Amino acid sequence: MLDILVLAAGKGTRMRSDLPKVLHPVGGKALVQHVVDTARTVGGEQILIIVGHGAEKVQEKMAAPDVKFVLQAEQLGTGHAVQQALPQLRNDATVLILYGDVPLTRAETLQKLIAGVNEKQMGLLTVDLPDPTGYGRIVRDEKNAVVAIVEHKDANDEQKKIREINTGIMAVKAVHLQKWLPQLKNNNAQGEYYLTDIIAMAKADNIAIHVEQPNAIEEVEGINNRQQQAALERFYQKQKANELMVAGVTLLDPSRIDIRGNLTAGRDVVIDVNCVFEGDVVLGDGVTIEPNCIIINSKIGNNSHIKAYSHIEESQMAADCDIGPYARLRPGTDLADEVKIGNFVETKKAVIAKGSKVNHLSYVGDAKVGSKVNVGAGTITCNYDGINKFKTEIGDNAFIGSNSALIAPVKIGAGATVGAGSVITKDVEDAELAVARGKQRNVQGWERPKKL
Ligand code: UD1
Ligand code: CA
Repeated sequence: MLDILVLAAGKGTRMRSDLPKVLHPVGGKALVQHVVDTARTVGGEQILIIVGHGAEKVQEKMAAPDVKFVLQAEQLGTGHAVQQALPQLRNDATVLILYGDVPLTRAETLQKLIAGVNEKQMGLLTVDLPDPTGYGRIVRDEKNAVVAIVEHKDANDEQKKIREINTGIMAVKAVHLQKWLPQLKNNNAQGEYYLTDIIAMAKADNIAIHVEQPNAIEEVEGINNRQQQAALERFYQKQKANELMVAGVTLLDPSRIDIRGNLTAGRDVVIDVNCVFEGDVVLGDGVTIEPNCIIINSKIGNNSHIKAYSHIEESQMAADCDIGPYARLRPGTDLADEVKIGNFVETKKAVIAKGSKVNHLSYVGDAKVGSKVNVGAGTITCNYDGINKFKTEIGDNAFIGSNSALIAPVKIGAGATVGAGSVITKDVEDAELAVARGKQRNVQGWERPKKL
């Protein structure tokens, strides 16, 4: 039985932000969301978030059936924070204590920590730092057993030399917390109730301290300022890039890709530099993405080619599509196989069937386009009258001449042709030619105006 506490009441003054610190993102996801997701992965049945500064915003963002919030109105220390949650803890639970501003701890590390907890033993996650300044130091006895944690501000010169520090993450039986926490005192350098004081209490009660260490320091690093946020962002992105390469993706520069969500890729995918992926993005086999593309919550079919500077959001395409450069696919774009969307084309709620082409400078919105249609340069579906939106339908094999305006609601039949420069206000039947433009008039003997 596992209860997980997430300490998230702190202010985060150094972020200099109106947003509560734990809601700032790494990899496009709030710090505390990373922590809660990991808590779920390790099997936390009850997740208790200790909130204080910005409590309302944190509660609004993090509300979920397995999450409870505990208000710590005044921040009197980490021990005080955990005290607030005592009534919520289940008596026979193991309690894992996490920090809302430490986002990248691996579930495997926490699993090892929890595995070391029983009635006779608690778990503590420590790490050795080249510069331990500011952190609580791990004090060990002559048998190398942990006997206490001393905060930096309370440490003597000898203790300050200890490089093994407290990450803050620990796991302990609820019954032990219930016994120890009421005994905490705040007679220390900071006048705070230190959670770390329970280590000496454990020692006094003959409860052994089982120590685990993470694989990388970044796993236990907290975020207090924008520099630390940026540093963990880069670490996170490096990991993501690595996972992709291990899965067989070619990244032309693994330091120039940003993944803010879940990117899954098939075989032989190539991603050039400076692409950003947000939300859930799925790339099929053989997909190529040229530089500087942004792809959000979209699905790209096998062997499709996304050319440079394209922006694709909530769209999907089947196989062998050719997009961009400089294309903008807005939500509801749904392309069948072999569709071509060229430069400076915007689509929105556009369902386009196999083999059709919209190659240049067009807007296709609220439209259903058949197969093998050619939409000429500069074509606009005029879908909006200022109040309501209307649909345009274009049948298979239709040809829309350049610079046409199709005033919706309107239907262009299969095999129909629209002459260039037409303003189409009436439906066009199958195979018809529609020309709707001023007739050309050539005036003979015309003389240009002369200067007066
Ligand atoms: C704490 C540890 C220290 C450890 C360090 C690791 C204590 C006494 N010290 O120190 O040993 O090396 O973390 O970063 O535990 N929080 C609350 N309510 C409070 C106080 C803090 O929710 O009343 C939260 C903060 O939002 C933060 C976390 O607890 O997420 C740690 O608090 P912080 O003040 O950063 O602890 P440190 O003094 O750095
Ligand atoms: Ca801290």
